[in-house]
Amino acid sequence: MSEKDHKVSRRQFLTYTLMGVGGFMAAGAVMPMARFALDPALRAGAETDLVYVCDVDELTDEPQTFRFSFDQVDAWYESEVTREAFIYIRDNTVTALSPTCTHLGCTVAYGTQDPNEFYCPCHFGRFDRDGINVPGTPPQRPLDVYEVVVEDGKVYLGQINQRT
Ligand code: FES
Repeated sequence: MSEKDHKVSRRQFLTYTLMGVGGFMAAGAVMPMARFALDPALRAGAETDLVYVCDVDELTDEPQTFRFSFDQVDAWYESEVTREAFIYIRDNTVTALSPTCTHLGCTVAYGTQDPNEFYCPCHFGRFDRDGINVPGTPPQRPLDVYEVVVEDGKVYLGQINQRT
């Protein structure tokens, strides 16, 4: 090959240079956005942390309200979140129900209307003592349940799961 074959015209040189600089600038703009979008997904398991709520000794077969708090990291925003759960023990099984009505999200109370039912004052929704929606009332599915882990006599709650 002769030296002449390797020559790059001014136009080609300018095109390559502009493409290189443009590509570098585009990568500089896109990479932070991609990192921002993917960061929470890369922190696997963050939302499945278990939180200590109470001792098993405190539980009865009637649902009782327990409040608990934990630190939540949402991308770069950190906050302390407070939640509630109705917790009871029957046949050595601990169950923790979310107090959020499955109709439109109001907070239910236990035993205020019927001594063995959860009642939602917003649209008169009712759930039996296991959190199963009473037919003919607005909620179309049972109260959600927390993941429960009992260890050394202590009750830990995890994520909320939907029942059908
Ligand atoms: S929000 Fe509970 S019945 Fe509608």
